[in-house]
Amino acid sequence: MSTSFHKIKVKELVKETKDAISIEFDIPEELKGAFEFKAGQYLTLKTSIGAEEIRRSYSLCTAPFEAKWKVTSKKVKDGKMSNYLYDQISIGDSLEVMPPKGSFTADKKDKPVILFAAGSGITPIMSILKDQLEAGNQIVNLYYGSRSEEDVIFKRELDGISQENGHRFLLQHFFSSNGERLDKERVESIANGLKVLKEQADFFICGPAGMIESTKLGLEAAGVNANQIHVEYFASPDSPKGISQEVVSGSVEEITVVIDEEEYQITLDATETILEGAERIGIDPPFSCHSGVCTTCKAKVISGEVEMENNFGLGQDEIDEGYVLTCIGRPSCAGVKVSWDEV
Ligand code: FES
Repeated sequence: MSTSFHKIKVKELVKETKDAISIEFDIPEELKGAFEFKAGQYLTLKTSIGAEEIRRSYSLCTAPFEAKWKVTSKKVKDGKMSNYLYDQISIGDSLEVMPPKGSFTADKKDKPVILFAAGSGITPIMSILKDQLEAGNQIVNLYYGSRSEEDVIFKRELDGISQENGHRFLLQHFFSSNGERLDKERVESIANGLKVLKEQADFFICGPAGMIESTKLGLEAAGVNANQIHVEYFASPDSPKGISQEVVSGSVEEITVVIDEEEYQITLDATETILEGAERIGIDPPFSCHSGVCTTCKAKVISGEVEMENNFGLGQDEIDEGYVLTCIGRPSCAGVKVSWDEV
């Protein structure tokens, strides 16, 4: 999987709401193979604002069958990239874009798919729902929380999909300005209302941390199994700041990393993560959020053990398969070797 950035032109811009913008990229013919994606994956964008290099990941809101690469960004207060994208980008400008990544994907098309989104968490959910409906899935439900009707991202497109797909697609909005929230009790009651479907369905949740947690709690209270629930955070959940300052001793800090078929030895500083060590010695590992959310920095542990602090991105199945997030990963024994090539 390619982890390099490519200079890609902006093909189209759509202001979706007063603070959300969709950016479609013009992927050149020769890069279309590298940019193939699964519904639910994301692109990492890189640009320089002043002297500072900024990277952010944005989920694709398009489905593969549309052959369009479009991401949606919502302006957040003090958000450098989101304000830049909303206020300064024009059609024809170029951004550095890394090919799609991410494991928030729905591979099965023969199971009911129940989707919960809030705010700009709708973006990967939009991609998944279009993909599922195109593939013939007969039951796709979307429960979508927004501040108010004016804040609904993709309102017109969702209304169109709803009209075209009739009984196959159920769309229900919740507006916090009316006191409607996707809290635990509401989600539990939605899940109980699904009756037998709740045992067969896959559940996908994307939104802020609080909404994800309450939705998960509601589903679990209704008896949905943890392995039916898939989540994607789009912002770092609140977590205690301050990484453990425990000093690694002996040769624990001597690690090996593999990237682009080259091996590098790194001696980590006491507080450094594997990613930080790799960046310090000047190799170019993939990363975006630096906080255990986006999974761009995922690598495979070839030997030894790696501990992760505050993992919000990897599922238990990926951890069991030996994957780690290097931006929050530190060696916990001697002889650690990780590879970005085996992802
Ligand atoms: S860089 Fe985002 S999870 Fe590590």
